[in-house]
Amino acid sequence: MPYSREFGDHFYCREDGRLECGHVFLSGNGLPERWENLSSPGGDFRIGELGFGTGLNFCETWRQWKLYRKPGTRLVFTSFELYPMRDDEIDRALARWPEIAAERQALVSQWPNAPSGTIEIDVDDQTTLIVHCGPALDNVRAQEPAFDAWFLDGFAPSRNPDMWSVELMQAVHDRTKPGGSFGTYAAAGFVRRNLAAAGFAVERRPGFAGKREMLCGIRPLVTAP
Ligand SMILES: C[S@@+](CC[C@H](N)C(=O)[O-])C[C@H]1O[C@@H](n2cnc3c(N)ncnc32)[C@H](O)[C@@H]1O
Repeated sequence: MPYSREFGDHFYCREDGRLECGHVFLSGNGLPERWENLSSPGGDFRIGELGFGTGLNFCETWRQWKLYRKPGTRLVFTSFELYPMRDDEIDRALARWPEIAAERQALVSQWPNAPSGTIEIDVDDQTTLIVHCGPALDNVRAQEPAFDAWFLDGFAPSRNPDMWSVELMQAVHDRTKPGGSFGTYAAAGFVRRNLAAAGFAVERRPGFAGKREMLCGIRPLVTAP
């Protein structure tokens, strides 16, 4: 169970991080159902993630994408990570889940020995992983406004406020397509307020594994005057 001494927090919930990904990040963004709407061939779906960590969310998302994708469509999963892990650390953390063994092995075998800069891996012919190493705010600001969905997965807001700042939530919002979405396990009042101030229509839902709340939301199609 990976734990960050620097931030004093676990990388995912202790019950089952893979199932938490399905509840918070996939369902919170209306996935996999929205993949049905992609035009086939030619449609693409762009996910942004704050905090690549062990790659658990990527591996579980890729697993589900392979089950539901239509021919000729493409998933681009772009993640932002300040402290990229080594391949053996990723391998050890993810070995707990036999369900994603194939995805873990494929990821680890292509992960660079000294991860830095921008890592781009075509993990199969319909799926690209991009990881920007460095502070999320700078790298998100450098993106095109082309994201369909966001996984907001910094450490706990009280311990990792940079990952939930009003500036970063604004940058995320401004790079989301109208009608695009976010999901997060976080429910802190200042996170909800920052997301709403950025322009998202924010919804509270029951959290995973007995947590009272999580947040998800949409960038409205028409911005209120
Ligand atoms: C909760 S973990 C992410 C877990 C991950 N999604 C997974 O599937 O394993 C939070 C991650 O955010 C990263 N992080 C913290 N502050 C950051 C920052 N300012 N910019 C980019 N990444 C940051 C941490 O290094 C950590 O890997």
